[in-house]
Amino acid sequence: MRSVKLKKASVRASRKRPGTPPLFMQPRQPELLQPPASPLEVLDAPSALWLGDAEAFLKAMPNEPLFDLVVTSPPYNMGKAYEKKNSLELYLEWQRRIIDEIVPRLKPAGSLCWQVGNYVDNGQIAPLDIEFAPIFREHGLKMRNRIIWHFGHGLHTKHRFSGRYEVVLWYTKTDEYIFNLDAVRVPSKYPGKKYFKGPKTGQFSGNPLGKNPEDVWSIPNVKSNHVEKTSHPCQFPVGLIERLVLALTNPGDIVFDPFAGVASAGVAALVHDRRFWGVEINEGYVAEGMQRLKAARNGDAAYRSHNTPLYDHTQSNLSKIPDTWHVVGAI
Ligand SMILES: C[S@@+](CC[C@H](N)C(=O)[O-])C[C@H]1O[C@@H](n2cnc3c(N)ncnc32)[C@H](O)[C@@H]1O
Repeated sequence: MRSVKLKKASVRASRKRPGTPPLFMQPRQPELLQPPASPLEVLDAPSALWLGDAEAFLKAMPNEPLFDLVVTSPPYNMGKAYEKKNSLELYLEWQRRIIDEIVPRLKPAGSLCWQVGNYVDNGQIAPLDIEFAPIFREHGLKMRNRIIWHFGHGLHTKHRFSGRYEVVLWYTKTDEYIFNLDAVRVPSKYPGKKYFKGPKTGQFSGNPLGKNPEDVWSIPNVKSNHVEKTSHPCQFPVGLIERLVLALTNPGDIVFDPFAGVASAGVAALVHDRRFWGVEINEGYVAEGMQRLKAARNGDAAYRSHNTPLYDHTQSNLSKIPDTWHVVGAI
């Protein structure tokens, strides 16, 4: 049953959507020169970043299915420069109100991806995916994957193991959803493997397009040397969202990020001919985000693609063990 549904979805995915010319054929849109004044102006824009509050934006939108993919990394309530730390209860109440506004505006074949880490209080962690899951369940959304985003850099903690992953909760609204697996395949481990029995004995057993990327994704986080680094302290890497955009939407579709930051989701959308609407409350991030959207539309986006192989750190001079460490008791 499931495989039939998925197959239908990917056939639909490969069809061109009538009436939506690819972005490169559309005239250059003035909306990228300045943020729209009112939320409703976004509806006429191929892509736009609105400066303001996510809840206010959503309440101003028509209460009908608008978004093909909602993907966001909300504030984690950690007391970062861009947020005020609240109790976990108050924070979740606020997030619930936003989710209540989003779900009716998600299209039936659409997906919602909520990317979260931990809320940390007094040295204790509350993994936010666990806290959010009941909210999405109450809305009847269907969880398809809990993707582990693994990255290599971060704080070294002293009283617990250093955190090196966050989570993307992927939900669909219905069972008829878009899933373009072929668009995101990665190289197989053993492409030379062959069937050793049965009618296909001797033939290669793998898919020449590569394998399913699985649900643990190692993608570098955006630290100071990263090609995508902006002034934002917590931007997510474009590659993380690029994989979701390619798999869960088709060209011309609307990708929406209610907490857009510097529009990383928008870059992922625009470089692949999707449309993007984002909301961000901080003027400086909106300004930077607009520059990035413009670069993406002009084919000049600086980003690291989802399928770029990981850097082999053992090749760096910094990986050499200092001579002074070769002493009894060390290493
Ligand atoms: C974790 S960051 C998202 C970063 C983004 N994914 C990127 O790559 O740039 C959360 C963002 O939500 C914004 N924000 C906080 N409260 C908001 C609100 N009420 N409405 C809209 N944006 C808000 C913050 O300014 C911050 O940029």
